[in-house]
Amino acid sequence: MDKWIVGFDRMLKTLVGPVETTRPLDEDNAGSLSEFNKKHSAALMRVNHSGEVSAQALYLGQSLTVRREDLKTMFRQAASEEVDHLGWCETRIRELGGKTSRLNPVWFAGSFAIGACAGFFGDGVSLGFLAETERQVGEHLAGHLEKLAVEDSRTRSIVLMMQADEAKHEQSAREAGGIALPAPVRILMRLCSSVMTRTTYRI
Ligand SMILES: [Fe+2]
Ligand SMILES: [Fe+2]
Repeated sequence: MDKWIVGFDRMLKTLVGPVETTRPLDEDNAGSLSEFNKKHSAALMRVNHSGEVSAQALYLGQSLTVRREDLKTMFRQAASEEVDHLGWCETRIRELGGKTSRLNPVWFAGSFAIGACAGFFGDGVSLGFLAETERQVGEHLAGHLEKLAVEDSRTRSIVLMMQADEAKHEQSAREAGGIALPAPVRILMRLCSSVMTRTTYRI
């Protein structure tokens, strides 16, 4: 019962905010950006924010179904770093005058269901799914670094910090016994995230 209450609390904090981060950001010292770049960066950060909403839901779903005790601790540690990502994205979107996605409850519900399902297939699959998700997120963030304006140093530094954490999450999931997922599953995951990123850039 307790873990479901904690889970419900996590969902409310994720969807309603504001989120408290354990690693706060420095003051905003970025130079003035053009209106176009502000809008563009805000839209990219809205995509990342929704990704972090999904990460909260995935970790929650997986932590409720995972069997090994050490993995519960690992998931909790990673989830708290993901809370920082969520808060950083939220802060940056606000600074840029943008809005978070109205579709976040949909992404949360879907990701929670996927995370819980992965857990039912066993810890190896659950960890493998996590590792693959983090790998794809890392690639996606690398793509954002190419799309973000060079002068938007603050957004870029947030994306870089997130990218470093996601690489760490991928590595610990693999080291903990994550199995390699079959190619069709990886392709399906990529398709799903592509739908999500394209939609969230606009809504
Ligand atoms: Fe993240
Ligand atoms: Fe992560």
